Amino acid sequence: MKDFAGRVAVVTGAGSGFGREFAKMGHALGMKLVLADIQRDALDDTLAELRTAGAQAIGEVVDVAKSEQVRHLADRAYAEFGAVHLLFNNAGVAGGGLVWENTDKDWHWVLGVNLMGVVHGIHHFVPRMLEANRRGEPGHIVNTASIAGFLCPPLMGVYNVSKHAVVALTETLYHDLALAKSTIGTSVLCPAFVPTGIAASERNRPAELARDRELTVSMRLAQAQSEKAVSSGRMSAAEVAQITFDAIRAERFYVFTHDKILAAVEARFDAVLARQAPADPFASNPRVKPTPT
Ligand SMILES: NC(=O)c1ccc[n+]([C@@H]2O[C@H](COP(=O)([O-])OP(=O)(O)OC[C@H]3O[C@@H](n4cnc5c(N)ncnc54)[C@H](O)[C@@H]3O)[C@@H](O)[C@H]2O)c1
Repeated sequence: MKDFAGRVAVVTGAGSGFGREFAKMGHALGMKLVLADIQRDALDDTLAELRTAGAQAIGEVVDVAKSEQVRHLADRAYAEFGAVHLLFNNAGVAGGGLVWENTDKDWHWVLGVNLMGVVHGIHHFVPRMLEANRRGEPGHIVNTASIAGFLCPPLMGVYNVSKHAVVALTETLYHDLALAKSTIGTSVLCPAFVPTGIAASERNRPAELARDRELTVSMRLAQAQSEKAVSSGRMSAAEVAQITFDAIRAERFYVFTHDKILAAVEARFDAVLARQAPADPFASNPRVKPTPT
């Protein structure tokens, strides 16, 4: 997709961080916007800022982990604008700790948002985007994974699993769309640490999945590590949005934002192919490596 003006973008997690910047950049390029977030005040803030700037934008409070809410979002997008060209399955949350200490509720929450949120976006939007694509309409889908979709740092097991799954899902989507002879583009966004609200994800944890026991030592360590790594990130969310829109224009599938960390990805694949033990995921960034307790 090269031309954005007059076209329609859907962004989940639009209240903060990357999602908010995708929405701002979409507006700057003349797109109509359908914005979703679980956090009403954050969503309203983004909507107010964009409408003041003259955007044609609608907003919907959506928990992407709930299929029927994402279906409603799609229904509303098509009812309001008649089309969706660019879909950002971006909403996400982070949780950590030693994997044997994470509870069922931790897994359900993080996988529900990070993985099932993307699954629901694909399920409810892609058939309608495909139908339009057969009539010549362009389309592109960006799924936000993470460099944690290619690396497996300790104390981040639940998040790593969710993001590896998003990479697998998006690669499969790419092949499925080719099989269906579609020209809809796909990208998987894989940033390293960027200052956003991600280290404070618990703010949007639903009551039914609320933590049912105290944080363990490892969970507190993971939280501190995540806060330190995210806040020390030097790239801004706006720069990530710029890189992402450039990738959409260039039809680039893998969207890496931090080139230096790719050395760790290469080391991981080298170790896999050499049948060695997993390589050090922090080789390129020892500053954020947790110390053994
Ligand atoms: N910031 C980073 O360092 C980083 C790095 C790699 C990947 N990511 C990924 O980027 C994406 C965006 O995160 P961010 O960094 O902008 O964080 P953020 O917290 O600033 O934004 C995430 C948004 O998602 C919303 N959200 C949370 N749960 C939701 C749900 N169930 N339904 C709908 N919306 C929900 C939040 O309210 C928030 O507005 C996530 O998928 C995250 O995993 C972030």
